[in-house]
Amino acid sequence: MHIDQLSAAELATELDSLQKQYNALRDRHLSLDLTRGKPCTEQASLSDALDGILKGNFLSANGTDVRNYGGLEGLPEARALFAQVLDVTPEETLVGGNSSLTMMYNVIEFALTEGLDGPASAWGNSESVKFLCPAPGYDRHFAVCEHLGIEMIPVPMLDSGPDMARIEALIAEDDSIKGMWCVPRFSNPTGCVYSDETVERIARLGLQAGANFLVMWDNAYAVHTLSEDASKLASIRDYCQQHGTMDNVFQFGSTSKVTFAGAGVAFLASSDRNVAALKQHLSFQTIGPDKVNQLRHVRFLSDMDTLAKHMANHAAIIRPRFECVLDTLSRELAGTGMGEWTSPQGGYFIAFNTLPGLARNVVQLADAIGVKLTPAGATFPYGKDPEDSNIRLSPTYPSLDDLNAAIEAFVVCVKLASIEDRLQRQD
Ligand SMILES: Cc1ncc(COP(=O)(O)O)c(C=O)c1O
Repeated sequence: MHIDQLSAAELATELDSLQKQYNALRDRHLSLDLTRGKPCTEQASLSDALDGILKGNFLSANGTDVRNYGGLEGLPEARALFAQVLDVTPEETLVGGNSSLTMMYNVIEFALTEGLDGPASAWGNSESVKFLCPAPGYDRHFAVCEHLGIEMIPVPMLDSGPDMARIEALIAEDDSIKGMWCVPRFSNPTGCVYSDETVERIARLGLQAGANFLVMWDNAYAVHTLSEDASKLASIRDYCQQHGTMDNVFQFGSTSKVTFAGAGVAFLASSDRNVAALKQHLSFQTIGPDKVNQLRHVRFLSDMDTLAKHMANHAAIIRPRFECVLDTLSRELAGTGMGEWTSPQGGYFIAFNTLPGLARNVVQLADAIGVKLTPAGATFPYGKDPEDSNIRLSPTYPSLDDLNAAIEAFVVCVKLASIEDRLQRQD
């Protein structure tokens, strides 16, 4: 029954029953964790063939010995493969080391301190530098901004992606806004795929905001579908070409959730000018990336068809985990008015919204019975969810049994917090 339809007596009965369920859960001394958006062991094992795949053949297609220094832009065959993941050309692609987050940090720091188009273009020349942060979003994006002293402006996330009307209005009134974070396909944590219209409006932002505005297009889940009919993402590069804004967008991706999260390959793409400028900047940090690992990845993933089959194997492992969470949420909470959640077609997360003001309480209740959840607020800039309602659920890492136990306990906590809150309001 919907919480609004419960009488005071029914609420009290329900509370009594939930408290008993909660106490029983506490007596089980659970130790479960729903915080980690990382691949499970079975997923990592899908790529075990990477180990030893070179069999002593360290020569790339053009005869380069990958064991040696050099190749700052990455191996040609790695650029060719990962360009297809981002839907760009190999020349616009730079393949690096293990982490796309490192690349994102590098790009922002470079734009801030040195400028993508020479020292006069450095954001740091201005007194204040601001970034638009669609929220809920990825906490580590927000941490980069906070660490580098960039002020964050939250922007609501809609099913079609960030609220573009709000973004355009903010840019029109504030020229210290220098950039924007995007996770365009299976966004972290809502799982939405940006609509074609949203992608085009983002590609046009450079026309409005000027040459120094940067879209950080973090396509971390570009190929991470849970079903074959998952929504496709429009090519931001094509729209940028059309509107002359190639310099305004950096795209990122990695194999962290394709092969090994701790030993994958990251890549980025942008205009020729930006890639050349960044390469120059990187040359002060390194003589070249780990090309041995790049070659291992090219030999292992080969082409987009092989990659797609590999990703289908990932989906076969994690789809039951998503279904476990979604089935329990539907069975226990649908129609109760005590929460809403997303049903993503890919990516790593489910975003759950409690009734306003209850997320912190739910996280605390779960913690007290041994179920760790991502801290409430983590999905918002500065850790501040204005509604205190968003909780990010990460189903991929725990075993199905653990996940089942964790989500059953989560539901009890949501119900308990909701009913307690309703009764308090009636006092
Ligand atoms: C949106 C997003 N971007 C980037 C990353 C991390 O990427 P990498 O492992 O390539 O640094 C994650 C990891 O969860 C993520 O969710």
